[in-house]
Formats: sequence, C-alpha cells, structure tokens
Amino acid sequence: MEGDKKSFRITTSDDLEVSTYLEIAKEKGGEEPISEKVAEVDREAVVVIDFGSQYSMLIARRVRECQVYSEVLPYDAPWQRVASLKPRGFILSGGPASVYDPGAPLAPAYVYESHLPILGICYGMQVLAHQLGGRAAPGTRHEYGHAILRQSDVGSPIFASLPPSMPVWMSHGDQIVEMPPGFTTLGYTENSPIAVMGNEHGIIGLQFHPEVAHTPQGKEILKNFLYHICGCSGNWTPGSFIAESVERIGGQVGEGKVICALSGGVDSAVTAALVHRAIGDQLTCIFVNNGLLRREEAERTLNTFQRNLRMNIIYIDASERFLRRLEGATDPETKRRLIGEEFITLFEEEAAKLGRVDFLAQGTLYPDVIESTTSESKASAKIKTHHNVGGLPTKMTFSLIEPLRYLFKDEVREIGLALGLPEEMVWRQPFPGPGLAIRIIGEITKERLEVLRAADWIVMSEIKKAKLYGELWQSFAVLTDTRSVGVMGDFRTYGYLIAIRAVTSEDAMTADWARLPYDLLARISNRIVNEVPGVNRVVYDISSKPPSTIEWE
Ligand code: XMP
Repeated sequence: MEGDKKSFRITTSDDLEVSTYLEIAKEKGGEEPISEKVAEVDREAVVVIDFGSQYSMLIARRVRECQVYSEVLPYDAPWQRVASLKPRGFILSGGPASVYDPGAPLAPAYVYESHLPILGICYGMQVLAHQLGGRAAPGTRHEYGHAILRQSDVGSPIFASLPPSMPVWMSHGDQIVEMPPGFTTLGYTENSPIAVMGNEHGIIGLQFHPEVAHTPQGKEILKNFLYHICGCSGNWTPGSFIAESVERIGGQVGEGKVICALSGGVDSAVTAALVHRAIGDQLTCIFVNNGLLRREEAERTLNTFQRNLRMNIIYIDASERFLRRLEGATDPETKRRLIGEEFITLFEEEAAKLGRVDFLAQGTLYPDVIESTTSESKASAKIKTHHNVGGLPTKMTFSLIEPLRYLFKDEVREIGLALGLPEEMVWRQPFPGPGLAIRIIGEITKERLEVLRAADWIVMSEIKKAKLYGELWQSFAVLTDTRSVGVMGDFRTYGYLIAIRAVTSEDAMTADWARLPYDLLARISNRIVNEVPGVNRVVYDISSKPPSTIEWE
C-alpha cells in the first residue's frame, strides 16, 4: 500500500497543485513524515473529514462500533488538530455541494500527503475524483434510495467476505464519469457504472452510503476499510475511551477546580464519574432537588454519588423555593422559564460559595450539539424551550469540559457501565429538566405533586415488573386538569384524571405510542384508582409524535 509516494497530483481547495508529502514534510522544518509518526502510537483512530453531510457523525459512530476511535473534523481543520488524533486513515463524508460549485469544499492537502488510506463516500468520492485527476459530473438521473451493487472486481479487500451483489443506499446527483489515473472500477449499479473505485494505495470511493441502516452490509464494508486497508485491529473500547478522557481532562484541568450540575440522568452522571476519575476532589457536583423529581429520585442519586462513588456533592433541597416561584403559573412556557431562571440563580449562588472555579463539566452529547447548531443555523420554529440542568449558566465565565460531546446515548451508557455506575442509573429513561412540572397540567401544588408521584410510581413499577422498561423510550403518568365523575362504593366521586404515556423512539425526534398489553394497562389502572387518593379515572394516550409531543407540556 505504501507504493510510490510521489505519484499523486493533487488539486486542493485553492486549486493549487501541491508538492508531495516528502517535500511538504521538509517545508515544515524537518518534521518527521506523518506516516512515521502515526506508526508510533497504538490508539487506532480514523478521522472523518466533514463536507456537511447529515450523516457525518453517523460515519464516526459506525467506525467506533468497529472498535476504532473516530472523530468528525471540518474539511478546513488545521493539520495540527488532525495530527493530534494520529489517524490511521481518512474518511471523506458526503455533502450537499457539487465539486464544480464555486468554492465547493475540497479535501485539504494533508489528507493526500499523509499517504494514509482514504475512503470517499458519495460527495467524498467525487472530491477524490476531482482532486486526483478524474471527473465527476451531474448524473443523467438523480439516484435516491435502494440500488443493487455488483462487484466488478471480486477479491478487493473492501468487499472481503461479502457476496458478489448486495443492496445499498444511494443519495446523489453527481457521479463519476472518469476515474483518476491508477483507479479501477470495483463495483457498479444500474445507474452508476462507477459506484465503487479504488487504487493500489488504499484510496477507495463509494458512491453509496455504507453508514446508513439501509445499506445492510455497510458496516462490514467500513470494517473492511478499517481492518484490511487501514490495518486497524479494533483496539478501541469504552475502557480505552475512559483512559484517554481521564488523561485529557487531567491535562486540561491541571490544578484547577471543576463544578458539575447533577440531574440524576445518565449524561450528567457519566460526565461527573469520568471527571471524578480524572481529578478526584478537584470536582464538586451540585445537585439541586427542585421538588419536581420522581419519588425516591433524589435519595437514590445522592446515594450513588456520595456513598458509592465518594464524590464531593453539594445537595440543595430547594423544593420549597421552586414551589413558591411556580405559584399560580399554569402556562407551560412560563413554568419552564421560571424553573430555568431559578436553577441558574441557585447554581450561581452555590458556585460563588466555592470561591474560584475554573471549569464547568457538562454532559453534552452529540445529538445536543446537532440540535443546538441546527436551531442556531436554521430558522426552525420553537416548539418547547428545553431546559437541561447542564446547559444553563450562560453568564458565568467557566471553560467547558464536555467529554461526551462526540458520543451518542448508547455509547454513553456503555461508558457509564464501564465506569461502574449502577445499571439502574445507566439505563434510566430520559427525564426532562423541568421534571414533573410539565407533567402536571395547570398549577403545581404539593398536593398535586403527591398525586402524580404516587401514580407515576405505580406506572414505573408495573412496567418494570413486566420487563418492558428497557424497551420503552419513556413511560410515565400525567396529571391532567380534568376532573370527572365516578362511583366508589355507593358514593359519587369527582376525582382527578390520570393519563398514562408510554412511547417507543430512537431519538425523541419522532415517537410512537407503545402497544402495551391490555392486562398490563388494566393492572396499572386498577392500582392507580385504588391506591392513589383523589384519582377515579385513568386513560391511555394513543398519540404519536408528530403531531403530539412526548411530554404533555
Ligand atoms: P417532547 O415533549 O418535546 O420531548 O416530545 C422530547 C424529549 O425531550 C424531553 N424533554 C425535555 N428534556 N428539558 C429536558 O431536559 C426539557 O425542558 C424537556 N422537555 C422535553 C422529553 O422528556 C423527551 O424525552
């Protein structure tokens, strides 16, 4: 695969023909050639160069699923940033541009000069063709959806152990009409005569998307690239993520002080546990009980962190304070705003008592990063103001530590387990920052909170008993503002109406109501009306998102 290192002629974003890797290495003042540096490290990483595809992070995630570390970096990331990851190869993502658009993003010269293997996906493949002397052009037909890929060169390592034909997912307008010198066709579809191309230096282009679930063998193809072309062995595990993060956080924090807001949820819990492993008592966690938590939630969270993990925790029971602040509030957005404001005030008061604090650790995950960039960059309508305990103190001048920034929820869970957090905490269903306040329609009072807690407890325990807790995205009770007539014994009642909500979802962006078994619903309903004073009717919410949302407020 090493081959002749001077064989490429490369066009970069500035349309310059650049010198070869050895010359560049010299220009950089005698720095060692990149590939030699790469050989020194044992962590295997592959960098995804992002051209703006909605799937870029999914590529990185698939690579990590193959036990090779991966991060997505923008196409104009400086070499130093890339070099710090010591990559074994590059993947060029798809993207919305056409390589012939003026100013279309192209791969930086170092991608080619490193002489590491490169996998170009969709637009990334067109970039390869364009920069290495081939030609992409608008296809006669845009191609979206399923296609059958046939290997034209059975035996290429990119197809190791794969059948001669397989379904793949296409989504492109342009296609390759002329391969760069030295490339051959490795696969084709009905509409793309050059659906896969490659050369002897380990540079491969795929016109389809191997990262999406609609390409069933896509992960195998990526694995072949990583294992057979980049030479990775798959040594990246949650354990190695923890070891690296601990080292990085330790280096970043030095002697500094860090605070972290705990919510009881898995993201802030894993963040805190990870930071704690790196810097021990330099971390102080602040756990605010806003009085809007589920039954036993505060006690369990405290127990885990204080007793089991022996972390520094400031516990503030601010239930009364939040309840006072929420008095009379019935509008959902007002409730969220009041809770958010009160939380910031409290958090700031407590942080100030600690003296100088340098860092704030937050459990930001990759979907949060996408959500916030999307809402910043697009004029999307605001449905709900999400309040997360981790994301608030905008006025404060801390540096941020966000060790989970590139991970998805299931990866975070794996890391939580590897850190020794209790299963119950790691597999907890998501719970909104404003807590039960947005599950009580209308005013929040102590009495109504108690009714909801009792009903919610029954829902939770019956769902767990039925072994459905892990299969549902969320399952909970809602206290509505409707009262209805009932009869108990010989008496008329006029009681609360509880709604049960249980949904399945991948990411909360869409959700379907869960088809819970009737006998389970019957047990829940029966227990609630019998055990929760003041409730005489239970209904099951059978609406999906959209058009409904998961929470009622
Ligand atoms: P919706 O109700 O918008 O909820 O379909 C989608 C997901 O987000 C959670 N959620 C919140 N989480 N702060 C949070 O931390 C909030 O203000 C908030 N509102 C909704 C909800 O539980 C579901 O998982």
